[in-house]
Amino acid sequence: MSDKATLEINGTSYEFPLVKGTENEIGIDIKTLRSVTGGVITIDPGYKNTGSCESAITFLDGEKGILRYRGYSIEDLAEKADFLEVAYLLIFGELPNAETLEKFHADIKKESLVDEEMKKIIDAFPKSAHPMGVIASLTSALTAFNPTSVNVDSEEAMYNAIVRILGKFPVLVAWTMRKRQGLPLEYGDTSLGYVENVLKMMFRKPNEEYVTNKVVLDALDKLLILHADHEQNCSTSTVRITGSSHAGLFVSLAAGISALWGPLHGGANQAVIEMLEAIKEDGGDTKKYMAKAKDKSDPFRLMGFGHRVYKNFDPRAKIIKKSADEVLSNLGVEDPVLDIAKGLEKEALEDQYFVDRKLYPNVDFYSGIIYRALGIPTEMFTVMFSLGRLPGWIAQWKEMRLGKEPIGRPRQIYTGETYRPFKTMDKR
Ligand code: ACO
Repeated sequence: MSDKATLEINGTSYEFPLVKGTENEIGIDIKTLRSVTGGVITIDPGYKNTGSCESAITFLDGEKGILRYRGYSIEDLAEKADFLEVAYLLIFGELPNAETLEKFHADIKKESLVDEEMKKIIDAFPKSAHPMGVIASLTSALTAFNPTSVNVDSEEAMYNAIVRILGKFPVLVAWTMRKRQGLPLEYGDTSLGYVENVLKMMFRKPNEEYVTNKVVLDALDKLLILHADHEQNCSTSTVRITGSSHAGLFVSLAAGISALWGPLHGGANQAVIEMLEAIKEDGGDTKKYMAKAKDKSDPFRLMGFGHRVYKNFDPRAKIIKKSADEVLSNLGVEDPVLDIAKGLEKEALEDQYFVDRKLYPNVDFYSGIIYRALGIPTEMFTVMFSLGRLPGWIAQWKEMRLGKEPIGRPRQIYTGETYRPFKTMDKR
């Protein structure tokens, strides 16, 4: 196979090198396109065919349903690793040994206090504020309390910023939920594991001892691993592009949180449960909602279905579906929306509209059912997603900064008015 692509424009041929990844993915390197052609650019709304970077973090093959972090399969990681190990793997490239992991955790714990002044910011939000807006604001506000910008050329400074956010973010997640519930804002327990501590911070009642439920802990750990990275998706690209202006780590993450909020992305987990609830309230007629999803004049979409990249199945959805059954039965929870979800999935997988468009359940079709069984309120689902995605965003931000990537700045094809003389007020 040639290592070049040829492009012909108005009878002139131009050659561009091909870039090949370790999994044989091929890209056409068009860095010189504009200069050699005298201004021609590519147009690709939604970046369906555009690679924004070369990355060594996450590999996914949407046709074969493969997802790997740093070469390790998502199935192995979900089964055999814990979330903190996966976070380390994503950020630093290798699985930690026992000693490195212990140090990593100890360093995170040292950073797990949040300035008490932050509570004033939380107090200023109305109780009805959506937790995603609150957590994005709090993450941004952390910058004000930790104003030194990261010197990316110093490995130590980079490491310190990473453990700082990994230490403080779960506290903010817990406070965001507790504030809505009128519970006191507390700190965690550094004698516990990372995820166990998250649970305690979220659920401890001021008048009761908190006892960890192993089923809940394992389920949350697995969900966080499954959400930990997904290469250049909407929120991750937002983190990278924000950081490409050399904006700091915390604000880049806050931008990613905002991008995650939308129902076409991370907000789908909340939207799925709301959709399943609505179907239940409406008598459980899944056929009616299938018809709505296929009707082009109806804006309704089957939430939790479809994916930009997966055109076969989403490997995370497979793991989560199995886990949903186990978690609900272990916790003794009977949730009628699980049956509705299974019914919808079965119908969709047999329906020509969904088959033709290669629409399969994505990671968030079943995740909300598990979150709900764990006692996490619906509006907090996307916040939980952000907690899981945090290591991925950090890894991608770090890779982008260390790779000295240029500022992200797409071009456009202008379709507005051509030059026209200014119209004075009396002539408008
Ligand atoms: N329900 C009904 N039809 C759908 C759905 C759906 N959930 N998803 C896609 N389609 C249809 C589209 O209408 C379109 O049909 P057409 O070819 O007849 O016009 C076709 O399938 C292709 O869809 P696009 O929107 O072009 O695909 P795209 O890659 O741009 O969008 C997305 C992917 C946003 C995930 C889309 O499938 C969707 O909106 N799904 C529901 C929301 C959701 O679950 N998002 C979570 C994604 S996973 C994550 O981000 C964590």
